[in-house]
Amino acid sequence: MDLHVSLSARGDLSGEIYRQIRCAILERRIRAGDRLPSSRDLARTLRVARMTVVVAYERLAGEGFLVTRVGAGTFVSDQLIRSRSLVAPTATARSPSRCIEQRESVGPVGRGRDSTHSRSLRARSVWDTIPLPSVFARPARYDFRSGVPDLAMFPHRAWRRAMSRALGADVTSTGAYADPAGHHGLREAIARHIGVARGVRATVDDIVVTAGTQQALDLIARVLLEPSDRVAVEDPGYVMPRRLFATLGVRVSGVPVDGEGVVVESLPHDARLVYVTPSHQYPTGVSMSLARRVALLAWAERRDAVLIEDDYDTEFRFDGRPVESLQSLDRNGRVIYVGSFSKTLLPTLRVGFLVAPAPLRAALVKARFVSDWHGALPIQSAIARFIEDGEFARHLRRMRRVYAARREAIVDTLSRTFEAELRVVPSTAGLHVAAVACHASVERMAEVARRAADLDVAVQELAWFAHDVPSTPGLVLGYGSIAEDQIGEGLRRLRDCFV
Ligand SMILES: Cc1ncc(COP(=O)(O)O)c(C=O)c1O
Repeated sequence: MDLHVSLSARGDLSGEIYRQIRCAILERRIRAGDRLPSSRDLARTLRVARMTVVVAYERLAGEGFLVTRVGAGTFVSDQLIRSRSLVAPTATARSPSRCIEQRESVGPVGRGRDSTHSRSLRARSVWDTIPLPSVFARPARYDFRSGVPDLAMFPHRAWRRAMSRALGADVTSTGAYADPAGHHGLREAIARHIGVARGVRATVDDIVVTAGTQQALDLIARVLLEPSDRVAVEDPGYVMPRRLFATLGVRVSGVPVDGEGVVVESLPHDARLVYVTPSHQYPTGVSMSLARRVALLAWAERRDAVLIEDDYDTEFRFDGRPVESLQSLDRNGRVIYVGSFSKTLLPTLRVGFLVAPAPLRAALVKARFVSDWHGALPIQSAIARFIEDGEFARHLRRMRRVYAARREAIVDTLSRTFEAELRVVPSTAGLHVAAVACHASVERMAEVARRAADLDVAVQELAWFAHDVPSTPGLVLGYGSIAEDQIGEGLRRLRDCFV
């Protein structure tokens, strides 16, 4: 098959190959079942290293666009025949990057024709771009994945007590349905907690309990955004908001991050909403400087934009004075503060919250109401009791010690034995550290991560979090899921992957 890929001489070649093939599949220039050239042949044609093509093919396979049959070659996945919702071939003339933005923002028009299925049964094409997580995969023995707390150290007994009380009297004392803003006692507890720990200004009436950060972002987007709006996200950054915003049909732009946080001068002038993680940038770990916070707030005021402050894991702070939250510095009510119990308790509880600025409060509560009314009240009530009884604070104190020791072990080993390969990005909080490659390319780091997986070590590549900005070669190492006494062996194995 004659696959056309055009590469400019610089930048992330693997990423460019990945994007162009993905685009060609989505626009049906290559179809389900088509066989792709071997990585060797394509590498020869494009005059790039074979590994550059292998990395692109593997990423496409990971997202379900390609399948590899041993001995037969690499093919466009048959599953794409079944989805039957690809964009029309008329988009062929568009440049690859436009193809991605167009496809992600495509509304109810502009989809391909399909004679077999009725139009009404066709999902919008943007859903083809959303991969499902491989949550059922067996975790690696040395699990350095980021973003997951230690499930084994969750205080199950205390939680069961809180849950059983919540399922008793609390259930009968609330009506059949309750306030969409969430459990009153939990909202009081949250307002107190973030007031003390993060200086966030909030009363019980400002808090809306949500199903995690993800639903908080969904409610905010649905309340604020029109389809023509632009949202800016950090790049590299957390992929979930990016995906969520794309499914809502808005334009999503990645904005670079430096040692002080998101680069304010690079924000698109027409961004209506900006999503940031100032306390512990995900994934680099950088804490946004005070000067940058002030500049970002001033920018938002000038541009009439709204800022989302995702403060997802700063309960685990190990060093230094916490920089004030963006929300507490904001004098104009432009910041929506968002928090989660996914790191402090369990991600599977699906409980988070947002602090609504006064003008948006009513709409945000209504958005929760039309979405799922109020989520599971017994769980919210149990968390409230857990906090009131002091169990939450006790659990946080314990986990802070545990994570601090793991973090120190990782940072110490990386600084001592990986000094020629990796430079740890300074950070003081959270459940992961990032390390930038001293010399290696993005492709090389992909190879390291792959070899690590073969040795039962799970690490993430920094490049995986990139959006529009060229990827930075490096690794992200989480310590939520790995016991301290396994870190040494895990990193020894990782060390072997650089040889
Ligand atoms: C940057 C960031 N924000 C928030 C969360 C938590 O999201 P949720 O509350 O939806 O589980 C995560 C989880 O990994 C994260 O990485």
